[in-house]
Amino acid sequence: NTDKKVEELVKKMTLEEKVGQMAQITIDVITKGKDRFSSFEPVELDPKIMDDVFNKYKIGSILNTANNRARTPQVWYSLISKIQEVGKGRLNIPVIYGIDAIHGTTYTAGATFFPQQIGQAASRNLDLIKRGAQITAYETRASGIPWNFSPVLDLGPDPRFPRIWETYGEDPYLTSEIGKVMVKGYEGDNNDISSPYHVAACLKHFLGYQVAASGKDRTPAYISDQALREYHVPAFKAAIDAGAHTIMINSGLINGIPVHSSYKILTQLLRKELGFKGVVVTDWGDIENLHTRDHVAATNKEAVMMAINAGIDMSMIAYQYEPFCNDLIALVKEGKVKQSRIDEAVTRILTLKYDLGLFKTPVTNYKDYPKFGSKEFENAAYETAAESITLLKNDNNILPLSKKMKLLVTGPNANSMRTLDGGWSYSWQGEKVEEFASKYNTIYKALQNKVGVQNVDFIPGVSYKMDGKYFEEYEDQMDNAIAAAKDADAVILCLGENSYTETPGNLSDLYLSDLQTEFAKKIAAIGKKVILVLNEGRPRIISKFENLIPGIIDIYLPGNFGADALADIIFGDVNPSGKLPFNYPRYPNSLINYDHKPSESRSEVVGVYNYDADYNPQYEFGYGLSYTNFEYSNLKLSAKDINANDVLRVSVDIKNTGDREGKEVVDLYLSDLVASITPDVRRLKGFQKIDLKPGESRTLTFNLDKRSFAFVNADGKSVVEPGDFEVSISNLKSKFSIK
Ligand code: IFM
Repeated sequence: NTDKKVEELVKKMTLEEKVGQMAQITIDVITKGKDRFSSFEPVELDPKIMDDVFNKYKIGSILNTANNRARTPQVWYSLISKIQEVGKGRLNIPVIYGIDAIHGTTYTAGATFFPQQIGQAASRNLDLIKRGAQITAYETRASGIPWNFSPVLDLGPDPRFPRIWETYGEDPYLTSEIGKVMVKGYEGDNNDISSPYHVAACLKHFLGYQVAASGKDRTPAYISDQALREYHVPAFKAAIDAGAHTIMINSGLINGIPVHSSYKILTQLLRKELGFKGVVVTDWGDIENLHTRDHVAATNKEAVMMAINAGIDMSMIAYQYEPFCNDLIALVKEGKVKQSRIDEAVTRILTLKYDLGLFKTPVTNYKDYPKFGSKEFENAAYETAAESITLLKNDNNILPLSKKMKLLVTGPNANSMRTLDGGWSYSWQGEKVEEFASKYNTIYKALQNKVGVQNVDFIPGVSYKMDGKYFEEYEDQMDNAIAAAKDADAVILCLGENSYTETPGNLSDLYLSDLQTEFAKKIAAIGKKVILVLNEGRPRIISKFENLIPGIIDIYLPGNFGADALADIIFGDVNPSGKLPFNYPRYPNSLINYDHKPSESRSEVVGVYNYDADYNPQYEFGYGLSYTNFEYSNLKLSAKDINANDVLRVSVDIKNTGDREGKEVVDLYLSDLVASITPDVRRLKGFQKIDLKPGESRTLTFNLDKRSFAFVNADGKSVVEPGDFEVSISNLKSKFSIK
């Protein structure tokens, strides 16, 4: 069995070999001529550096793609085969390759790209989300890569943070439910990652990464132990219980302590409390950061000691490999890091390699993956995009549009694949998308495909340009666009953001840019039918002109088939069914989540209060319109008085009262009316997505139990307190009590 094999192998290993297994380097370290090769040429490996990396330092893991470019599966195969050849060393230990395949196999040309996580959350369709993960696992293995740095299970409650689109939104329950299916989609229902169709999942970024006080990437967060457990732990716990094999750590600080140096989080919480048995990997250069950025270690060597003793098993880019390995070897010899800590980390890493079947098959062969980039996979990506797109406003049923109309499509997001795919797509910030995604449709192309080239005109009005790593906007034929709008029957105004991730996505102003706002106002003033399409990674505030626009659709970052899905929705061939996974804010100073405390609402506040600052999002979490209507009735509870250990059955009837088929997400919220910690006004505790034909009705049942009634109290304990609760589904409410 694996444990025995690993134990025997560890016994044979020298300290140097063990330490090498704990280091991960970026592929660029071992490649030559970084800026010379074109997209599909095999990467040129540098034999001299390879010798140093693998024979001298025994490095056990690689990540990333050279030159930040997409490769074909064939190129990946030849690259990783060569690495395995040299990397296996005297003990035949395979190298483990990891990558960010976060919405599809995003560094492989021709792979299937799904909506980014935020859009997947809006679809609320767990089957489609799982299918996406299965396809991604297949295509990642088709590229010879067995380890995926996904899913992101950070909560995304702060729209200022640049990686909101990489989350499943602001709700812990929704994130937990999706996290579980993602793990099973990547790793298989039994977590058998030796299957050549499965990859090891990597939950990230443990813990509390996206709630930095300033809203900026990798800046300090202040989170109480109670809040950490109430909001941030549940999704990671659910995914750990679902069997996830690896986890990546939050680059930031919580309460002044870098998470990479926190024994309390990495060992006490993660290992002892949550029972995680897999591999813990750092984020990029985060051991070095303990010294150079966070100033908790006086030297890099001290940083290594802190991180490894806190519980890190593998270091991603620890000031590259030589000093990391040398320092760690020295620390063990000096007794500052125990040999047992090294053995523990190496045992976990080798177990992962065995579990992945890498000792038998160090690299899977692209030839064994006939479905790579197939129509079947593309359809799944299209379906997910179609179910994610969220209709936010439809005054006077302006949508769907008639196919006979003459359209102007305009705005900086109207003719760009880059804005549809977002970051980590072919390259880190998605800046190379246009190079690889030309066979897919931009919004402009998709609309033309739908109603004919002659019926759709495109003038940008505003465009993006890159200035180094940041994008800027400029006026691009705005007057022409306004003139053309006058001649059109309807205008599809595509606004939002260009792609970004991590620190380059930090933002100073959450309002949609001044230029786009001015453009939107000018277009609206013409008085034509205007449909605003929001193509953005986070909700950019639109309250300066929202009232002027009758039709608004949020497509998030919908992937390579998002524009086709959008066109189908605009003309009514698909009925929208996405629901917001976050509160869409109305003002930058009112970034309040849907599950806020009662004092955020004016009805709860006695005394002098600025009512303008009341809880008043532009659109609320869970909001999203359909072209049909759903009527809710008959909310029933199985009992009115229960014990904490009882199961409460909740049922409700939903009827499609409109004249077309539609999908509806049915959300169940629970409110604890009085508790020892001020309860949130309501919390999502169940959701189901159903499909109803016109006139059809269905009774849905939800089972609530202890897990739904519990909250984390001031002592950090999960408790159910007796008292009154209220269940709400749509506008129906019913109370019950726990004895
Ligand atoms: O997986 C990512 C992480 O999300 C952010 N920093 C780099 C890692 C590896 O690319």
